[in-house]
Amino acid sequence: MTVRAVVRGVGHYLPERVVENEEFTRTLDTSDEWIRARTGIERRHFAARGETTSDMATRAARNALGDAGVKADEIDAIILATATPDLTFPSTATIVQARLEARNAFAFDVQAVCAGFIYALANANALLVSGQARRVLVIGAETFSRILDFSDRATCVLFGDGAGAVVLEADAGSGSTQDRGILAVDLNADGSQRDLLYVDGGVSSTGTVGVLKMLGPELFKQAVNKLAETAGTALARAGLQQGDIDWIVPHQANIRIISGTAKKLGLPMERVIVTLHDQGNTSAASIPLALSWGKENGKFSRGDVLLLEAIGGGLAWGAVVLRW
Ligand code: UT7
Repeated sequence: MTVRAVVRGVGHYLPERVVENEEFTRTLDTSDEWIRARTGIERRHFAARGETTSDMATRAARNALGDAGVKADEIDAIILATATPDLTFPSTATIVQARLEARNAFAFDVQAVCAGFIYALANANALLVSGQARRVLVIGAETFSRILDFSDRATCVLFGDGAGAVVLEADAGSGSTQDRGILAVDLNADGSQRDLLYVDGGVSSTGTVGVLKMLGPELFKQAVNKLAETAGTALARAGLQQGDIDWIVPHQANIRIISGTAKKLGLPMERVIVTLHDQGNTSAASIPLALSWGKENGKFSRGDVLLLEAIGGGLAWGAVVLRW
C-alpha cells in the first residue's frame, strides 16, 4: 500500500488593514503605476500594532480545521513556515499549538523564507508517508511589515502580511499517478547566493532584528529558470508531464515571474492562481493563501493536478505536485 498525504482542508487569514499603493507615494518617490506595472501589486494587508504571526497563524489554522472537519486534538503535528516568528524561541508553531489546544501534536517551525511552505509541505509529507503522523497541520504565516525598510522604495512596496494553512491527512493510495494527495516534491538551496535576499540582523550576529535587503533584478533573472526547472523535476518524479497540470499555484512575488514561469510550463494565465494584486508578496504565506483563495472561488475540482512552486531568500526553492 502507498500512503499519500491528501489535502483535507484549507483556510486563511488576512489582517484588516489594507494598504493601497497610493499610500507609499506620500513618503516615497514612487507611483501606483510603477508598482502595478513592474510587480502586479495593487494593495497589501499589514498586521495591526500588536498583531503577531501566531495570531494570524492561529486564525488561518482554525479556518483550515473547520474546512477539514477535524478537531485540534486530532492533529499529530503542526509545521509552521515563517521567517518572522513571534519570538527567537520557542517556535511560533508551539505558540499556535497551545492556542489551538492541539494537545496531541508536536510542533516546530520551518525557515526557508518564501519557499517555506514548500519545505513545510515536504516535511509533512515525509511524516505522513513514514507513518509518524496521520494528520498534519501545515501553516505559512508572516508579518513582513515588521522587517521592511520603509525608506527603501525598491523593497517596502513589495511585501504584505497574512497566513494560510492546510490540513493534510494520510490516505491509502495505489501508488499510481491517479492517486490523490502529494505525488512528488523537489527541494533546492544555494547558500552562496545569500546576498540576493536577506535580513541584515539576527540573534548571533548583530543582536538586532534587522531589515530586508534585496538585489531584485539579480533575483528576478534567476527566478523563472529555477522555478521552471524545479517544476520539471517534481513533475518527472510524479510521473507526469507539463500537459497534465491543471493549476499552477505559485509563490506570489511578481506577476512577471509568475507569467514567465507559466509560459515556460505551457499553461495559460487562466490556469494560474494569482492573488498578489490584493496581497503583495506574503513570503511563506503566499501559497496557502492562494490555495485557500482557489478553493473558496471554486477553481479546483477533485482529481485536478496542482503544481506549487516558490523561490526566495537562501536562495531556497522548490516545487510540489499534488492531486486535489
Ligand atoms: O519572494 C522572493 C522572491 N522575490 C523575487 O523574486 C523578486 C524578484 N525581483 C523583482 O520582482 C523585481 O526585480 C523588482 C520588482 C524588485 C524590481 O523591478 P525591476 O523591473 O527589476 O526594477 P529595477 O530594480 O531594475 O529598477 C528600475 C528602476 C530603477 O531606477 P533607475 O535606476 O532605472 O533610474 C529603480 O530605482 O525603477 C526604480 N524603482 C522604482 N521606481 C518607482 C525601484 N523601485 C521603485 C519604486 N517606484 N517602488
